Amino acid sequence: MCGIIGYTGNKPAKDIILSGLSRLEYRGYDSSGMAIYNNGSYPKILKSAGKISELADLISESNLEGTTGIGHTRWATHGPPTKDNAHPHQDCSEEISIVHNGIVENFKELKTDLENKGHTFESDTDTECIPHLIEQYLKDGDDFLESVRKTAKALQGANAILAVHKNNPDTIVAFRLGYAGGLVIGNANEEMLIASDLPAITPYTNNVTYIEPGEIAAINATSASFYSIDGKSISKKFVITPRNQIDSGKGRYRHYMLKEINQQPESIMQTLSGRVSFNNLTIDLPELSDFNADKINRVVIIGMGTSLHAAMVARYWIESFAKIPTEIDNSSEFRYRDPLVDDKTLIVSICQSGETADTLAAMELARNKGAQQITLCNYENTQSTRIADYSMQIKAGPEIAVAASKTFTCSLVLLYLLAIELGVKLNRLTTKEIQNKISELSKLPDLIGQILYDPNQYDELAKSLSHYHNFLFLGRGINHPIAMEGALKLKEISYIHAEGYPAGEMKHGPISLIDENMPVVAIAPSSDLYEKMESNINECKARGAPILSVVTEGNDTISNISDHCIYLPESSHELSPILNSLPLQLLSYHIAVTRGCDVDQPRNLAKSVTVE
Ligand code: G6P
Repeated sequence: MCGIIGYTGNKPAKDIILSGLSRLEYRGYDSSGMAIYNNGSYPKILKSAGKISELADLISESNLEGTTGIGHTRWATHGPPTKDNAHPHQDCSEEISIVHNGIVENFKELKTDLENKGHTFESDTDTECIPHLIEQYLKDGDDFLESVRKTAKALQGANAILAVHKNNPDTIVAFRLGYAGGLVIGNANEEMLIASDLPAITPYTNNVTYIEPGEIAAINATSASFYSIDGKSISKKFVITPRNQIDSGKGRYRHYMLKEINQQPESIMQTLSGRVSFNNLTIDLPELSDFNADKINRVVIIGMGTSLHAAMVARYWIESFAKIPTEIDNSSEFRYRDPLVDDKTLIVSICQSGETADTLAAMELARNKGAQQITLCNYENTQSTRIADYSMQIKAGPEIAVAASKTFTCSLVLLYLLAIELGVKLNRLTTKEIQNKISELSKLPDLIGQILYDPNQYDELAKSLSHYHNFLFLGRGINHPIAMEGALKLKEISYIHAEGYPAGEMKHGPISLIDENMPVVAIAPSSDLYEKMESNINECKARGAPILSVVTEGNDTISNISDHCIYLPESSHELSPILNSLPLQLLSYHIAVTRGCDVDQPRNLAKSVTVE
């Protein structure tokens, strides 16, 4: 969740660290800091609570010479987001500086032991035991690399660090344990960068290599050496990675989230390109050409947050198109039960970042049980794509706002294609059915464009709804997950309490909450379930709730029982979850803006959750 970056080369390190931190800020943004090493002198450390802009102000007022440095943007786990708890952290001698991503699970024992040996601590963090441990091994006679290696062996939990010592001021030593975010090294011709995520590096180089769990790296400007955690030398190759995974700024939009919502027609086209022929109404998923579905008797789809909601929608599609029993599970629950998974189970994981700790652990568990695995990820060569047997790139383009929008709808589009593909591989769909589904899909970018065409109504809606403290979102069938996603979006970015429920469940509890202070957002597209939704809307109306109904154009009765209506173009019912997502994203966005919230970087959240 935190972002870490290191640089060693021939340029002022502070500028490169700062620009890297800005690109990593979506990972954590409650405090930040950097350590700069200049020849053999003591490192200079700058830290600040708050956003990277606060650190930038400090840097502009400081003299920070030096061509090696490490930086950190924090998402607090142990200790509040204060300057003292911000990274880098140091040992007693103040010669070692480290930045850290992850959780040291045994930090209490390590800290007590180190305090007994005379080390003094200045923060509440679990991180601070790491530089002291390195210092202790140095005192015991080991060199820096060996001290870092022994420290890695002593830590429990998923952790990644960068460390520098005053006596080796041009060398950064790093290790990675488990799935605590990635570590990628970029070789930029007499300059070397290392970071938790590719976007921090790609402005300088796209010649990169990744550190895997259990590996240690030592880098200087011109070379990189790699070791296993047991100290054996290993060789790794640098490879050229595509540059299309780089963000290109907010453009004319006030927030990244608004830009990303508006990009959805073109992002969906990207997801479809090379996979669907709209001329022949056929589908071809080259990434699954070797996948044999014959022995699969069950599908389990896993994910977290918005990706879990995508999984819930996909269950309907896979069961309907491929006629194969399909379950969904939250990755963090799946990994801690003893799930019935074997080589006849297909695990489909959805993880736009490729880094979510719980999803990666669930995938590892499934791999150990012999399951076949397909993963959906928005980026190439991530931790999740390296675990899965088959990877499907979401191709939504970089998503910077913490709340997912285009990665959600593009994941849905890709899952829809996967469901068709499973139907094809298992001979459960006729040619006519496949053609109909693809024909409906071809209309999607245009329909989404129509929804985005007139955003003004959301401003008005936000003005009349933003003062409420609670919302209930209701949907049925394939749109029940969309009600949950709508509620999640609202709570994430506007801090309004919201619940998403299957409308049939309303009478079993939530209805007791309904009164004139509880707006109800009803997702009620024209379908076999419409009448049932209409009854639920009536029941809410009768109890005084302000009603916002999201319905299909041509519905000329809903306005009698709703305070506000959003009309969406007609589509196939199967694809309605994708269309219905758009107004809910826009509603949350405009309510959050009206309430003065930090839309792109909501409090306490992070884009990739690399700790469990
Ligand atoms: C975080 C993000 C969400 C995302 C979830 C799962 O909570 O803020 O937007 O849906 O993680 O992320 P993943 O990368 O696994 O899809």
